[in-house]
Amino acid sequence: MWWDDGMTEAILLVGGQGTRLRPLTISTPKPMLPVAGVPVTIHQIERARDAGVTRVVLGTSYRAEVFAERLGDGSDLGVEIAYAVEAQPLGTGGAIRNAADLLTCGPDDPVMVLNGDVLSGVDYRALLAGHVDWGAALTLHLTRVDDPTAYGLVPTGDDGQVLAFREKPQMPEEIVTDQVNAGCYVFTRSVIDEIPAGRPVSVERETFPALLDNGVLVRGVVDDAYWLDLGTPWDFVKGSADLVRGIAPWAGHRPAPYLLLDGAEVSDQAVIGHGTTVGRGVRVIGDAVIEGSVLMDGAVVEAGAAVIDSVIGERVRIGEGATVVGAVIGDDAVIGARNELRHGVRVWPGTQLGETSVRFSSDA
Ligand code: GDD
Ligand code: MG
Repeated sequence: MWWDDGMTEAILLVGGQGTRLRPLTISTPKPMLPVAGVPVTIHQIERARDAGVTRVVLGTSYRAEVFAERLGDGSDLGVEIAYAVEAQPLGTGGAIRNAADLLTCGPDDPVMVLNGDVLSGVDYRALLAGHVDWGAALTLHLTRVDDPTAYGLVPTGDDGQVLAFREKPQMPEEIVTDQVNAGCYVFTRSVIDEIPAGRPVSVERETFPALLDNGVLVRGVVDDAYWLDLGTPWDFVKGSADLVRGIAPWAGHRPAPYLLLDGAEVSDQAVIGHGTTVGRGVRVIGDAVIEGSVLMDGAVVEAGAAVIDSVIGERVRIGEGATVVGAVIGDDAVIGARNELRHGVRVWPGTQLGETSVRFSSDA
């Protein structure tokens, strides 16, 4: 049995296109984007390892090569990593089925499956143990959110048995609960092997409803630990800032108002905080103000500029006196002096904006 041999396996779903995070995801898949200086995938692997996971199969598709280049065989992270690559994206269920070819455990063993874009404080070890104790076919971690419509809704009965699964419901009468799928599952291995192979499958729209129809035990565990899906730029900067400030769980990290990575230089006159990450080799010049932002490696922010709640791509230059609030600036862009970019502006990589223009919404 799995707890005797000390082996626990996990599948990480990291093949999505990260469309909502463009332009950041043009060159880097979403799970490899750095939050608090470290790719989301590494945060997840470390937490899984600390909960006893010994082997991780990455279900990759979009920009698959980026993962292996950075993570290798996993020895630096203290786990064994294997790569399942989909030539064409197979959806969440197809990806799990494809990755299962690289699992080594037996049919009755529990397998942890994680969406690759979530920061979570849930106790993985307790989920695994609970799954085995209950003899469930599938256990889902559920979290409560204010607006569940962007997620999979999962109502449960008194005993935690899942009653229904409604992915991103459109109709008001379908909003029957604030409990949503947190993108963290424990499957009994044999259940994964029954997912059809070689074609796209949505685990949320096809596999979960079918399991409920078949009357097998599917359990939901509602847990109020820290949880955030990093799918939008605003949640991405929030997640990064929460890690830096110690609001999101990060073993061994000492909470701080901001994080300076190797070679970053910040002038004494600069004002910096709210969980900002200043990437490798970044320069913050003069009296610039930086709050709650991610400055990726090699960026430069000149004197008098303000960067608030924004993502600044690699080697971007923010000119003197420019204001960037709630914006995403793609790699190598140059924002001329005194520009104002606000509220949802996305600047494509390499764009050069001259001086003094004001842009709202997505018209850059
Ligand atoms: N390998 C592979 N292949 N991975 C995929 C594919 C694919 O074709 N499609 C998506 N993924 C991965 C993504 O990289 C991501 O890590 C995860 O699967 C979920 O995809 P998202 O695109 O982020 O889905 P979502 O956020 O809209 O919804 C999902 O997550 C919510 C919680 O964060 C659903 O599972 C919802 O039910 C859930 O509430
Ligand atoms: Mg997501």
